[in-house]
Amino acid sequence: MKSTSSMLLLLRRLQKTGTSLCTKSSRRDFSLDITRAKSLVKDRALTTRAKSLVQDRSLTSRFTTSAFILNENKMDENKMDEIKERIRPSAIDHFKKRDYSLPHRIWTEEEVDAINVTHRYPNGFSDNLAYGCVQILRKTFDILSGYTIGYRLKTLDERAVLNRCIFLETIAGVPGFSAAMIRHLNSLRRMELDHGWIHTLLEEAENERMHLMTFTQLRRPGIFFRGMVIFSQYIFTGAFSVTYLISPNFCHRFVGYLEEQAVITYTHILEEIDAGRLPMMEQLRAPPVAIDYWKLGNEAMMRDVFLAVRADEAHHRDVNHTLGSMDKCDNNPFPPGH
Ligand SMILES: [Fe+2]
Ligand SMILES: [Fe+2]
Repeated sequence: MKSTSSMLLLLRRLQKTGTSLCTKSSRRDFSLDITRAKSLVKDRALTTRAKSLVQDRSLTSRFTTSAFILNENKMDENKMDEIKERIRPSAIDHFKKRDYSLPHRIWTEEEVDAINVTHRYPNGFSDNLAYGCVQILRKTFDILSGYTIGYRLKTLDERAVLNRCIFLETIAGVPGFSAAMIRHLNSLRRMELDHGWIHTLLEEAENERMHLMTFTQLRRPGIFFRGMVIFSQYIFTGAFSVTYLISPNFCHRFVGYLEEQAVITYTHILEEIDAGRLPMMEQLRAPPVAIDYWKLGNEAMMRDVFLAVRADEAHHRDVNHTLGSMDKCDNNPFPPGH
């Protein structure tokens, strides 16, 4: 009798822990709660039902677990098996939510495979300035982040790749939103139609943010990294917005060249995966957030995610080069979701 009541008490504590899992906004807290719940089961030898309850709850943290593993930079076989076991299709339904995303392209297999690195030859002073700025930014960032040396020595690992993608995506989401805000305010102030540009710019901003959300499923950056993101966001948002007020054409050309570099970066990552130098990326399933967003199959892998991201970047490249050649009062040729 005593053991039954203590078991009930433990079960209640366990369910209480489970409830808190659903209300915590931080994934780190999620994982900590699960660890606590698991130790409860281990210590008190609860019933099978209680164990399965914890098992169900732990599904929600499978990506958090992989994030912690990458944070610790440990890549031993046991951890890999643990990640693969946790990231399984049956768990994906757990993440199904309402689709709040703006219309966006869903790529076919043929489309993502057909993406190429392309370059628009700079034409005139403004184009050359935009191209020069992008080259300086890229080379400086490559050297400071250790990408140049890692690329030459072929020592880039998953951690370095994810750091690079996460940082760049926090920047990449700025131009579309800043440009949309400026055009929106212009339209309000002048009491004139916008010529249909705002939705395309917002779609681009959200698309870049979804790239970021996808990569942060695999790695949670530390405090120094976040500090650098905040600092860069202040500087870049201010500089880009002021420049957009002066010359929208220059800014769209600049983003076009930036996206050319993004296509080069993701093409290189895909080559590294195919060469077997990023084994974890090769074997990891796509996070549910990516499967939902790009409508990938339940069996999709991280390689499929990188293919979709690269296709998005190529699309931004082409859209921005087109907008960069247009007058700001021309009608936008891209319909919603194009
Ligand atoms: Fe991106
Ligand atoms: Fe982009």
